[in-house]
Amino acid sequence: MPKIKKRILTGDRPTGSLHLGHYVGSLKNRVKLQDEYESYIIIADVQALTTHWEKGESLYDSVMQITSDYLAAGLDPNKATIFIQSMIPEIHELTMYFSMFTSVNVLRHNPTIKTEAAQHGFKDMTYGFLGYPVSQAADITIFKADLVPVGEDQIPHIEFTRKIVRRFNELYAPVLVEPEIIVGEIPRLIGLDGQAKMSKSLNNAIFLADPPEVVNQKVWNAVTDPARIRKNDPGHPEVCTVFTYHQVFNSAEVPEIEQDCRQGNIGCVACKKNLASKINELLAPMHERRKNYSISDIKDILKTGTAKAHEVAIETMQEVREAMKIDYFKQ
Ligand code: TRP
Repeated sequence: MPKIKKRILTGDRPTGSLHLGHYVGSLKNRVKLQDEYESYIIIADVQALTTHWEKGESLYDSVMQITSDYLAAGLDPNKATIFIQSMIPEIHELTMYFSMFTSVNVLRHNPTIKTEAAQHGFKDMTYGFLGYPVSQAADITIFKADLVPVGEDQIPHIEFTRKIVRRFNELYAPVLVEPEIIVGEIPRLIGLDGQAKMSKSLNNAIFLADPPEVVNQKVWNAVTDPARIRKNDPGHPEVCTVFTYHQVFNSAEVPEIEQDCRQGNIGCVACKKNLASKINELLAPMHERRKNYSISDIKDILKTGTAKAHEVAIETMQEVREAMKIDYFKQ
């Protein structure tokens, strides 16, 4: 298929529900860009197995959940092609070829690999885990993506992909495209507990599927400025999680909230109620859109998307084999 528009490839590991950190870090950008670009969204189930290989049985639910989250957030299956990584065998084939000229030391020094290995307590990394950036490079390049909208933690992987492209093109033939990175306006959202990152495993996340009561409760429990005990105590917005969220989800009122907090004119209770209602306003249209898709609609969307993505992958792989001179029966 010839490319008319520029192409985007991005995606996620299906390991649970998507949260606000995913939304502001990358999903919001994808929804915005789907009109301008030909968009491919990969559900990286094989990559999920690099950390969840023993929990294969929950992958099905996670794939359905993440697709539902995508659709709820506003990805339109008529514009964006949503597909499943494991069902495109050419990606695994390309991964294997890339692995021939990838240094193990370069993978070991990848900062995201190091952080994730520490998070998961891997003393000894598996071959699959250490190598997932190679597979991610195949995900991206098999679609000849021009742009990859991702959160900040993915930057090392995209830089690595660019290096692979340069190496491949120099070794064989200029077949692959070097992708650009676009990071969302909020590259990393802190957790409700004030920890550096909102994350399901840290249990500090507001999920896109959370109903208003749950959002209210979670915001209620969010950490604020520890120095504020009484309502009239002067606050320090710079150390307050709730204030950070106002900056992201309620930017219009930030100057006023900041002043009122510093002067002790607004209490944490009112400030939290205000934030919860802004988050609920953001999520309300998502809850509405989610209702439009049944499980069987979701499966149809994934089937159609995967078939379309497969065609593109087959085409690129033919060019790759030709470039590598391993297309024996053509010669
Ligand atoms: N590594 C990404 C994550 O952890 C998921 C992913 C897999 C991806 N393949 C990709 C992202 C290709 C962008 C492009 O969420």
